[in-house]
Amino acid sequence: MAAKASNPDGTWYAGDIDRLVVTEDEIKQRTAELAKQVAADYADRDGLLLVGVLKGAIMFMADFSRALGLPVALEFMAVSSYGQGATSSGTVRILKDLDGDISGKHVIVIEDIIDSGLTLSWLLKYLASRGPASVEVVALLRKPDAVKVDVPVRYIGFDIPNEFVVGYGLDYAERYRELPYVGVLKPEVYTRA
Ligand code: IMP
Ligand code: MG
Repeated sequence: MAAKASNPDGTWYAGDIDRLVVTEDEIKQRTAELAKQVAADYADRDGLLLVGVLKGAIMFMADFSRALGLPVALEFMAVSSYGQGATSSGTVRILKDLDGDISGKHVIVIEDIIDSGLTLSWLLKYLASRGPASVEVVALLRKPDAVKVDVPVRYIGFDIPNEFVVGYGLDYAERYRELPYVGVLKPEVYTRA
């Protein structure tokens, strides 16, 4: 497909972005800071396991794991919340489970974004039930509603406003995940056929 003429930087997506929320440089810098912090906290522990939550966490997982500089194993889970609505239970369906045993491991959950916090809250209970040595969370982004749910997130990249964002793993209708930054879409993108 030909690139659209209206795109200032020559990418197919720049014309769809209203404004940036977190730039590529900010992501790089903050990822390095978080990695440094986690590496210091986990320096004396063996059996470090990063659990990425598909699909949104893939970009952050790739960059964070490489920045960490500690030996880690990587696992992925895919989950889907039941319905779109406010199920206070936060019931979640497992689409892809862990491949291996996590008992005795130091688990670090890698999340793209925490919004209501329901997914993560459920996930932490699930992981805790499988006997890990410890579980902590690294989330790149956090929205304001997340503070209403009591989810212990030890490492946060950025607190962002309560808006729908795409890029760096986050999608709208399965698109925009490959963008190098996090931004807000122009309103017309949502009304396009
Ligand atoms: P929560 O259970 O409400 O915290 O939902 C978290 C999940 O919803 C994230 O892992 C994302 O997949 C998705 N999500 C939440 N906010 C956004 C957003 O602004 N853009 C894209 N996906 C989002
Ligand atoms: Mg999504």
